[in-house]
Amino acid sequence: MKRIAILTGGGDAPGLNGILESVTRSLTVAGYEVVGICDGFDGVFEGRTLRLEEYIGHGDHSHAGSVIGTSNRTSTRGREKEFLEKLRAFNVEGLVVAGGDGTFDALSRVWEGLKIIGVPKTIDNDLQGTDFTFGFDTAVSVVANAVDSLRRTAETHRRVMIVETMGRTAGWIALGGGLAGYADVILIPEIDFDRDKLREFIRAQRPQKRGLMVVVSEGAKAKNEDVKVAFEVASSPEKKRLGGVSFDLARWIEAETGWEARNVVLGHLQRSSPPTVSDRFLTMSMGIEAARAVQENDWGKAIVFRAGQVVRAPITDLMKPPRRVPTDHNWIKMGHALGIFI
Ligand code: F6P
Repeated sequence: MKRIAILTGGGDAPGLNGILESVTRSLTVAGYEVVGICDGFDGVFEGRTLRLEEYIGHGDHSHAGSVIGTSNRTSTRGREKEFLEKLRAFNVEGLVVAGGDGTFDALSRVWEGLKIIGVPKTIDNDLQGTDFTFGFDTAVSVVANAVDSLRRTAETHRRVMIVETMGRTAGWIALGGGLAGYADVILIPEIDFDRDKLREFIRAQRPQKRGLMVVVSEGAKAKNEDVKVAFEVASSPEKKRLGGVSFDLARWIEAETGWEARNVVLGHLQRSSPPTVSDRFLTMSMGIEAARAVQENDWGKAIVFRAGQVVRAPITDLMKPPRRVPTDHNWIKMGHALGIFI
């Protein structure tokens, strides 16, 4: 019987279990055995696997997380030979990997010796080569729902409520969630904000509004200032963890406008919430396509979403720098049309 391994790498994203289920079910139907590698690259180096068939069919596709675990310790540097030897010991024909930039960057060191299919994953939606990544729609929904809920408190208390989102150097989550929730101000890493203009905008809103909703991406910053780094994770490929911008912004708004402000950091709720139906369909389609590529021996491919369709592309398409929001993007134009400060 042919055996295939599957691995999830990097931070979790809603929909990982959908990928595991759709790949495993499709390959099982086609007569394959599917081995899940536990906890990302840790499971490769430590030889830890499980039979995925046993985990499938219990409804995990509707939960976030990954039933086989994942890890952002994705380095293969200096251990390339060991990585390939350990993989060989699993006695599998090839590997399906759902991962982000760190995972594919590490795998690019061992491409040559591998039969691999990649599925791009991140809530940040900042991977090149695909129009949308799975998990993004769920993260954006969490932000939009938070804006809708917190607006009640903002209006009840006559306050400014600031919602801090994830996204690292890309503003897709803040922009998408802020727009969907009709926030009043959206601050993203791609557009450094001007403190004078923001102060003026907020002051002008005060006589007209009981409450004001601000969405700020963790990577947003004012002109000529630095991004707010919360701490560093030594073992992670991208070491800096951003955070804290919403707290500082709340104090600044109070000092500059006299309007009482509070901040809410959504954090990992954006990654741990149940996948939306859109993310379920996306992961189902991507998993089925990954399984087809395996059966056709079409290795070295990424399963991507382009122009409304799930298609295959060279896996190297995922290896480019983060895909950030273009400053002339239609979502920014839509925000301006609605009078939102972006
Ligand atoms: O890349 C995904 C992401 O969730 C970012 O949006 C965020 O900055 C980072 O990962 C958080 O990582 P960790 O889970 O290590 O705190």
